[in-house]
Amino acid sequence: MTTDEITDLLTEAYISEHETIMNYQTNAIVLDGVHAEEVKTSLEEDVQEELDHARMLGERLKQLDESPPGSAAFEASQHSLQPPEDTTDVQSVIDGVLEAEDNAIELYRSLHEAAAEANDPVTEDVAVTILADEEAHHTEFRGFKKQFPQD
Ligand SMILES: [Fe+2]
Ligand SMILES: [Fe+2]
Repeated sequence: MTTDEITDLLTEAYISEHETIMNYQTNAIVLDGVHAEEVKTSLEEDVQEELDHARMLGERLKQLDESPPGSAAFEASQHSLQPPEDTTDVQSVIDGVLEAEDNAIELYRSLHEAAAEANDPVTEDVAVTILADEEAHHTEFRGFKKQFPQD
């Protein structure tokens, strides 16, 4: 059985994936310098995965007889992922990605828990599938951060 908590979390996640897509795409375009290339390529690849996440969440909402939201429902929250003033500041983008992925991991854990409590195994499966991708993104950017030992 679905609950309001589940549809609220699916909606929140759907919006959050779109904000992530916008910020990863923007940073993949704007970063400059010798340390940027690997990060830019990774962000480009992750944009496609975040888009798949949004699609899965939207389709699950549709199955639950709810509509995914349009842009009127959008509220920005990823302040640390705005394109840096210094376009060679790859580290600030890496830190922003780690924060975004931490938040995503927390959100999909909450979704999984709510779905398990409500005996909704299909939403549980969506949550676990996406959670695995977000943990992989986090691991990848934790690796990038190790290339910058000064902090
Ligand atoms: Fe995602
Ligand atoms: Fe991610």
